[in-house]
Amino acid sequence: MKIIQLSDPHLAQPGQRVGGRDPEAGLARAIADINLRHADADLVVISGDLSDDGSPESYATLERLLAALLPPVRLTLGNHDDRPAFLARFPGLACDSGHVQSMTALGETRVILIDTLEEGEVGGRLCEKRLDWLEARLAEAAASDVALFLHHPPMPIGLPAPDACRLEPGSAEALARLCARHGRVRHLSAGHVHRPSAGQWQGLSVSTVRSTCQQTALLFENRFATADEAPGYGILLLDPEAVTMHFHQLPHPGS
Ligand SMILES: [Fe+2]
Repeated sequence: MKIIQLSDPHLAQPGQRVGGRDPEAGLARAIADINLRHADADLVVISGDLSDDGSPESYATLERLLAALLPPVRLTLGNHDDRPAFLARFPGLACDSGHVQSMTALGETRVILIDTLEEGEVGGRLCEKRLDWLEARLAEAAASDVALFLHHPPMPIGLPAPDACRLEPGSAEALARLCARHGRVRHLSAGHVHRPSAGQWQGLSVSTVRSTCQQTALLFENRFATADEAPGYGILLLDPEAVTMHFHQLPHPGS
């Protein structure tokens, strides 16, 4: 099974640059690359910060670009997104509580996206409603392997600046408890940090992926900086014998 993870396209007003990059061109290049190399993907997920400014224009651009994507796609939100503006453009993508969450069946596997956007905060949160939704979905998927995607990493990745605004600890603990109880969450992957990383957290296989727009510098000190690195996306291979996340780099926009 092949699941492509795009993240953090940070779309903005037409022509506006973000972190020195053209976000629309970044996402368009990623989509063209997926269509060329991975038209056979079972699913594409985009793990939030779909927009940089939460504007209606940015979501209109997203809708237009996604129309070209060949595999099916599922979306969730990040801290830069605006839930009402997103849902005005993509009505019907909210679960009963109004959050942008979904569970998709791919054969015997279930792919779950959860919405960690907490309005007005850079860090993420899972309120009771979202945790209840996740608990119910995991109960439905009790006999299935699960791949879980969200914007804010619940785990630290050892970089002080991004770690300071990850999923807040209470939400991360609750998430870990639900995953442990289910017992078949085979991988969890996040966005938000605009960097590739992989490891283990609370017994789970975890990763983060590059942005399709601008990247975060690999700084092991408590400050944030962007990096002149190429954008990219993740390719999650989920098979009975192994879970593998490949980190694909797109051509550097400057090259
Ligand atoms: Fe982001």
